[in-house]
Amino acid sequence: MQTTFIFLKPDAVQRGLIGQVLERFERKGLSFVGMKLVQVSEDLAKQHYAEHAEKPFFPGLLKFVTSSPVLACAVQGPNAVAVCRTLIGATNGQKADPGTIRGDFGMSGANNLVHGSDSPESAERELKLWFTEAELVAMSKSANDWIYDPSDLG
Ligand code: RTP
Ligand code: MG
Repeated sequence: MQTTFIFLKPDAVQRGLIGQVLERFERKGLSFVGMKLVQVSEDLAKQHYAEHAEKPFFPGLLKFVTSSPVLACAVQGPNAVAVCRTLIGATNGQKADPGTIRGDFGMSGANNLVHGSDSPESAERELKLWFTEAELVAMSKSANDWIYDPSDLG
């Protein structure tokens, strides 16, 4: 089992897509083990996207993620990091495959609806940055016995 970090960006929340985007993760067989609305501060945005600090798009990225509340989520499942990245799709909605969240709902490389951690190391860092331990729950779902075979859990 792995836990990854996603957040629904201001465009997804403002466009009223929370339900439809969360449904993608839920119907896939992943579990939410943390969830909260956050008005992102400049400091949190800078820490979250620190790897992009020198990129030309960084100021615009900070402005966008702090412009309106986001929905921060901890998502659990086997290989959750890679599975969530696949569900989310390529960075630019114009290039993302149909069937992915960005491919189905977006047309932009900046307003691209949802963030997902890009590695287990990033997931660990980002979960610590966004959630306290008390905000994350231990989740045991009986439906998982039908969604996963023991061999899927490693
Ligand atoms: P994210 O981190 O938000 O999940 O997106 P990602 O991994 O697909 O893309 P990444 O390379 O990490 O870029 C982070 C976010 O920066 C914005 N961006 N703008 N204008 C541009 O060329 C550009 N490139 C990236 C996007 O909002 C992207 O999601
Ligand atoms: Mg990224």
